[in-house]
Amino acid sequence: MTFDSGIRNPQSATRNLLEKPFRRRDLLGIRDLTAAEIIGILDTAENFSEISTREVKKVPALRGKTVINLFFEASTRTRTSFELAAKRLSADAVNISVSSSSVSKGETLLDTAMNLDAMAPDCIVVRHSSAGVPHQLAKVSKAAIVNAGDGANEHPTQALLDAMTIREHKKQIDGLEVAIVGDILHSRVARSNIHLLTKMGAKVRVAGPGTLVPEDFRHLVENGLEVCTHVEDAIEGADVVMILRIQRERQDAAYFPSLREYSIHYGLTNERLDLARKDAIVLHPGPMNRGIEIASEVADSSRSLILDQVKYGVAVRMAVLYLATGGATVNG
Ligand code: CP
Repeated sequence: MTFDSGIRNPQSATRNLLEKPFRRRDLLGIRDLTAAEIIGILDTAENFSEISTREVKKVPALRGKTVINLFFEASTRTRTSFELAAKRLSADAVNISVSSSSVSKGETLLDTAMNLDAMAPDCIVVRHSSAGVPHQLAKVSKAAIVNAGDGANEHPTQALLDAMTIREHKKQIDGLEVAIVGDILHSRVARSNIHLLTKMGAKVRVAGPGTLVPEDFRHLVENGLEVCTHVEDAIEGADVVMILRIQRERQDAAYFPSLREYSIHYGLTNERLDLARKDAIVLHPGPMNRGIEIASEVADSSRSLILDQVKYGVAVRMAVLYLATGGATVNG
């Protein structure tokens, strides 16, 4: 059957799917993806991004498909944008939160997943506080599993939307200098971004309190990762400054004396940002703690692309849902 997928440039989309295939059923992390697969997802997202600017923001590409959003942790941006992405592609989207599910009555995670799978969804998008949960679900589920954040492990669609934001503003990622500043230890955003950016040829510098920069990143040095002691060393000359939230919900110890001291030594102020290139852009995955890791004067400045990240999040999640579920065949 042939029908209009609703994609602005179906020839280009078809070519991208054929030449840079993402042939996996699941998106569990960035670590296992090739640069070609990442480019394939970003190109597909670019094709989808125009749909969100239309008066009628809906195309039939995933008509008849069902997407379940299974969130065991709080979310504003990721859950909403996965739901919008599914709906803009005409999929049926169902949202489940822990408080309203039978998990609150003691049902195990795997039982919950298998019961949902029995209803024949095409894709389950899952967020959980434990690393590896999406990988566990992928073993028992017939539906495609998409990781929407697993503990401190990975947040692949966040790194993809960050990459789309960088690509839209800098045209390429290869050769860029990117500073990632903050709570690296507990950040799944940092992990996914370090994998993605180094695979795409960027030089990545991470900085934060010594207690919040994990040892397991130091082996990535040969891939273009540099660990800086001082935040100023990471930011100096950077094309992109990515600021991370202090993840107090994942901290089981005192990693720094106080939020006030953290802000003084690591917070992104205009003075610190002046060390970066004149045309440097500022990213933050949200939710942000104004006045702690980022000053409002920076967050609200023209160099901040924080709301662009949110905008591109919808396009990236449309691409991921489309590719993971097989989508409507663009060729018919
Ligand atoms: N960036 C991010 O994952 O935001 P949410 O927690 O609001 O989904």
